[in-house]
Amino acid sequence: MKDVSELNCLRLAALPSAVSTARRHAEFLLARWGMASLADTTALIVSGLVTNAVKAVGVVDEAPSWSDLRERLTTICLCLYCCPSGVVVEVWDSESRPPKRKEADERDESGCGIQLVEALSKQWGYRWPKTGGKWVWCELTIQDARSLSSITDSGGELLDERLILTIPKEDVCTN
Ligand SMILES: Nc1ncnc2c1ncn2[C@@H]1O[C@H](COP(=O)(O)OP(=O)(O)O)[C@@H](O)[C@H]1O
Ligand SMILES: [Mg+2]
Repeated sequence: MKDVSELNCLRLAALPSAVSTARRHAEFLLARWGMASLADTTALIVSGLVTNAVKAVGVVDEAPSWSDLRERLTTICLCLYCCPSGVVVEVWDSESRPPKRKEADERDESGCGIQLVEALSKQWGYRWPKTGGKWVWCELTIQDARSLSSITDSGGELLDERLILTIPKEDVCTN
């Protein structure tokens, strides 16, 4: 996917709460970019990739102690690119082990995140930056959009625009 017209990166503490924040952030951006037809699918994919990143490197205990947080808390990064043909989602975490697509059947309660990413996106993959960790990415095109439901009005759901920074990727995520 070429011709990136806008790039937005967000660094998040690797905690379970990152998932809903990331999803709402993606919904907000897609609405702003006029890509409402991709918003639901993108939010679903962002949820799956951020959940995986948090599981890989995050503190997932329900009630972590302060010392746990001090010693183990790390960050992950979500980047969204807007292109004329759609969007690219990238999630970075510090673990170099890549995702592994599982063969989950309909009775499995887990193991279908990557299957879903594969089914809903044009293509997906991962890459290892020189600075460590990995980016898991996927590309969604308007043409292939299989929107779960059309977005109508996300006004009440939006994060406060003042909290959203559109900053160059290198200023947020050095990886
Ligand atoms: N960011 C990641 N870092 C390391 N391993 C990952 C990551 N994402 C996924 N994986 C691996 O790929 C497997 C499949 O992921 P997924 O399809 O989302 O299923 P689930 O998360 O339910 O196990 C995970 O069980 C995990 O072993
Ligand atoms: Mg998963």
